[in-house]
Amino acid sequence: MTPLEYLKKTEKKRMTELFQFLRFPSVSAKSEHKKDMRECAGWLKSHLSAIGFKSRVYPTGGHPVVYAEYTSSKQAPTILYYGHYDVQPPEPLELWKSGPFAPEVREGYIYARGVADDKGQTFCHIKGLEAVLKSTGSLPINVKMLIEGEEEVASENLTAFIRKNRQMLKCEVAVISDTAQFGHEYPAVTFGLRGVAFVEVSVYGPNRDVHSGSFGGAIANPINVLAGMIAQLHDKNGKIAIPGFYKDVKPITKWEKTQFRRLPFNEANYKKALGVPALHGEKGFSTFERAWSRPTCDVNGIKGGYQGEGGKTIVPSVASCKITMRLVPNQNPNDICNKAERYLRKIAPKSVRVQVIKHGGATPVVVPTDGPWLDAAARAIKTGFGKAPVFMKEGGSIPIVADFKKILEINTVLIGFSQHNDNVHSPNERLRLKDFERGCKTGAAIPDEFAKVEV
Ligand code: BES
Ligand code: MN
Ligand code: MN
Repeated sequence: MTPLEYLKKTEKKRMTELFQFLRFPSVSAKSEHKKDMRECAGWLKSHLSAIGFKSRVYPTGGHPVVYAEYTSSKQAPTILYYGHYDVQPPEPLELWKSGPFAPEVREGYIYARGVADDKGQTFCHIKGLEAVLKSTGSLPINVKMLIEGEEEVASENLTAFIRKNRQMLKCEVAVISDTAQFGHEYPAVTFGLRGVAFVEVSVYGPNRDVHSGSFGGAIANPINVLAGMIAQLHDKNGKIAIPGFYKDVKPITKWEKTQFRRLPFNEANYKKALGVPALHGEKGFSTFERAWSRPTCDVNGIKGGYQGEGGKTIVPSVASCKITMRLVPNQNPNDICNKAERYLRKIAPKSVRVQVIKHGGATPVVVPTDGPWLDAAARAIKTGFGKAPVFMKEGGSIPIVADFKKILEINTVLIGFSQHNDNVHSPNERLRLKDFERGCKTGAAIPDEFAKVEV
């Protein structure tokens, strides 16, 4: 039997198993799911053991890490597969057509929280490896698999885990499927990810909400003030106004600009898919450049005052917001957090008190755009998808990729199986059945192709 025949034969079982994986509400951000996280990790470990890996659950300071190994031979290259079993919170629940943790197939798509980001994509590799192992009796590569439970909360404990287990994780290259294809019929290899820096800003006014008739006009309104501060984050050309923000930004190379220009882009369709009347962004850059290779500053949420039924005439006591800045090489998340704090404090009027909470985030990365591993990945994708991949970048972040380079001194190959309209982090997250199948086929082609690389 060939690996492909094995995949075909086990199609139904594979779906059943994927659904089991998807049913765990493994939401890393919420402490109420601590037990679900542990159970999901335990299920993964058992599954990996059952298909022939030596596997273990490692506790961390946060949610556990699942680690599995397969040893082929000393001569064979060692590939580190990384994925994450944690998912984003599913809210707002009322917008889901079927339960976020009750996976369902509709019109050629699997619907469930995490099916694209990243349980389904991780499963493509697990099932691809299983297909080779079960159909041929062995794998031509050494496999190390690291599946974490804290990617969606910035991988806070994984860096320490990697530092501590450098020897165990020693390998030639990492493979991650946690990105998207460029589009339907456009499988992709991604050569860069943005980083991210988080800050939370609170603006305090009176020590309680007070009557806006009695006190309005005499004291500062924290919401008005915060809105004014947010308005000063960008200038009129869409540039970020934080002093020193662009100091370490590497200009976009000519090669990269050319690469992006080669990718088809239809502005009308792009606008229509998002339901926006016009595009918006930093002057002088194309949409792909803005979204993949330029830093940003976005308010993710804002809170304050009265939003209930009817009216309430108050000057609120406090207003707050959460801000993320997407970063590009060579910006540093901590440095950017500090610069943002300094600026926010500077522009705040004397009439309010300001609190800024900073959370590091993720370091931006670029990975090689050529070399034997990329060629091997391209061949595997060709087998899985019947098409060679395009090269693209992504605006999202996978925090651990920078640590793979810094601590393990390895490069990462980013192979995306999902689509940009698969609703990751949104209601009705989905993965096309066809993409799942082609992902599994690519996963099954990787061992042979990577084994050809001389190390
Ligand atoms: N899979 C995404 C990263 C991603 C997003 C890649 C979009 C390509 C396109 C990952 O799970 C993710 O959401 N990362 C977070 C990291 C953050 C919490 C530090 C992100 O980018 O917001
Ligand atoms: Mn992900
Ligand atoms: Mn995500």
